[in-house]
Amino acid sequence: MTNSRQTSVLVTGGNKGLGYEAARRLGERGWTVFLGSRDRERGQVAADKLAAGGADVVMIPLDVTSDESVADAVSLVRQHTDRLDVLINNAGAPGNVVPPAAATADEIHSVYDTNVYGPIRVTHAFLPLLQAAEHPRVVMVGSGGGSFAVVTDPDQPVSKMHELAYSSSKAALHMITVRYAQALPAIKFNVATPGEVANHKIAATDMNRHTGQLTVTEGTDSIVRLATLDADGPTGIFVDRLGPVAW
Ligand SMILES: NC(=O)c1ccc[n+]([C@@H]2O[C@H](COP(=O)([O-])OP(=O)(O)OC[C@H]3O[C@@H](n4cnc5c(N)ncnc54)[C@H](OP(=O)(O)O)[C@@H]3O)[C@@H](O)[C@H]2O)c1
Repeated sequence: MTNSRQTSVLVTGGNKGLGYEAARRLGERGWTVFLGSRDRERGQVAADKLAAGGADVVMIPLDVTSDESVADAVSLVRQHTDRLDVLINNAGAPGNVVPPAAATADEIHSVYDTNVYGPIRVTHAFLPLLQAAEHPRVVMVGSGGGSFAVVTDPDQPVSKMHELAYSSSKAALHMITVRYAQALPAIKFNVATPGEVANHKIAATDMNRHTGQLTVTEGTDSIVRLATLDADGPTGIFVDRLGPVAW
């Protein structure tokens, strides 16, 4: 069982990119890290690397599109702790950047399954463990691309990137976060976007073929900030590493 004073966090998609970096940074603080990975092998390699650096880490096989996988993840986490302080819904899929005229419901569905239903599946399943924590926090990894203010700003590159799936999935995730925050005030639900929206910057990861301008450490500043909020911190906010972002 996890030491009752030790903060615990579950990061979905923790095997690489921003999820891995968030896990690394929170592990460095002495937190118990449950590192979610849909691929066992990749997850174990990542967890072993963090453990070699001194982190208290447990690899949790977790595919956010599968009810069964999520239920198994809850059972496994329960073998280690009777509460979860922080959940980071980080796993995300970019989709294929299909132009709206060509987008089909099937293409949208697969992206929503990961980016929208995934966080709902995981949050719903982990609610009892979160509710057992003293001041639980849920961080949803959203996107400037899911902001109406950003997408309708002609100066933002995303306004010229014509696709339906990813941006609308993140917009849905943002609304879902606000609705959770309003309904469950004992848990902080906030959205972090990894970029610098005002400066049109994103973090270099596999998702953007490493074309981003920020490092993964910079990209996780907003995630770590929301994961480490004090008990009197805000709920229902949307931030990047520079501060609040317009919805
Ligand atoms: N990079 C940016 O600047 C940026 C900007 C805005 C938002 N974001 C968001 O940040 C989050 C992390 O993305 P990233 O940039 O770090 O990209 P990444 O390196 O491609 O990482 C994506 C992660 O999500 C995992 N994943 C995908 N589908 C999954 C599923 N069904 N179940 C469990 N895990 C799944 C991937 O696992 P596999 O290794 O198995 O594929 C991987 O661990 C995403 O939600 C993304 O939308 C990133």
